[in-house]
Amino acid sequence: MVASVTNRGGSAAAIQHHYDVSNEFYTLWLDSSLTYSSGLWDSPTLDDDLETAQQRKIDWHLNASGATTGKRLLDIGCGWGALMQRHINSDPHNHATGLTLSHNQYLHIRALNIPNIQVCEESWIVHQPTTPYDAIISIGAFEHFAQPGASLEEKVSVYREFFSRCQEWLKPKGKLSLQTIAYGSLNAEDKNVFTQTEIFPDSELPRPGEIFMASDGLFEIKTYRNDRLHYGKTCDLWLKNLRRQKLLIIEQFGEELYLKYEQYLKLAVAGFYFGQILLLRLEMQSLAK
Ligand SMILES: C[S@@+](CC[C@H](N)C(=O)[O-])C[C@H]1O[C@@H](n2cnc3c(N)ncnc32)[C@H](O)[C@@H]1O
Repeated sequence: MVASVTNRGGSAAAIQHHYDVSNEFYTLWLDSSLTYSSGLWDSPTLDDDLETAQQRKIDWHLNASGATTGKRLLDIGCGWGALMQRHINSDPHNHATGLTLSHNQYLHIRALNIPNIQVCEESWIVHQPTTPYDAIISIGAFEHFAQPGASLEEKVSVYREFFSRCQEWLKPKGKLSLQTIAYGSLNAEDKNVFTQTEIFPDSELPRPGEIFMASDGLFEIKTYRNDRLHYGKTCDLWLKNLRRQKLLIIEQFGEELYLKYEQYLKLAVAGFYFGQILLLRLEMQSLAK
């Protein structure tokens, strides 16, 4: 089943609505690596700082995807490039290609001018690599792939197209490490501001079963983790940073934007803590011979 273009969410305009507020805005409340996804803690008390948890998350994905032993990495939804930089810093012979739909993120990575990092302002839908990748990582982008209101069949179809492309682009037995928010006890019907037009227009979360259905026969799921409390903690730390910078944010970007993000982060903290939404990390190995 091939997804029609109309089934796909996350248009460039919708992504830019969110990520292109301005790089300065995000530097005021994300950690110093500008990582915009859940951190990873290794103790039940989650007492490391945000920087440490973000580095641990990046290293988890580099390991899970096999990028630590391979060279050529594809980062689908590369944000401001922290993961690609870590890959190159660990070995200057490594190579990373990043895809983003955000113009500001694209310009930011280009300006870093790091040899062996290539950034493309394009969707995975149009990506056409010339040589296979050793490893693929996608963190926090999958949430943008399906459209709000899409049926189960439409969602699985888009996700299957994504997994097929990843399989095609990987060397045989290559690995994909995926991180995404997913629906827990929340239904698409009773969405809150978290998935509404205000913050994330044109986005829809997967259900865990949809990921399993869509990747069936293409990838073996070797590890499946639900770290929803880790994302709750991450959003809580972002909220504290945001509140600490309240005056500056209001002065530079206006009260409306401040209140929108404060509300979004408050709802996200509660959503993850109460299990309405989940945070999945999956280590997946291609079944292609
Ligand atoms: C929440 S950010 C996560 C960024 C980064 N992975 C991180 O952890 O900090 C989502 C990223 O996915 C990208 N994205 C969303 N839809 C995409 C698509 N269809 N193709 C490529 N990138 C996409 C956005 O441009 C953005 O860079």
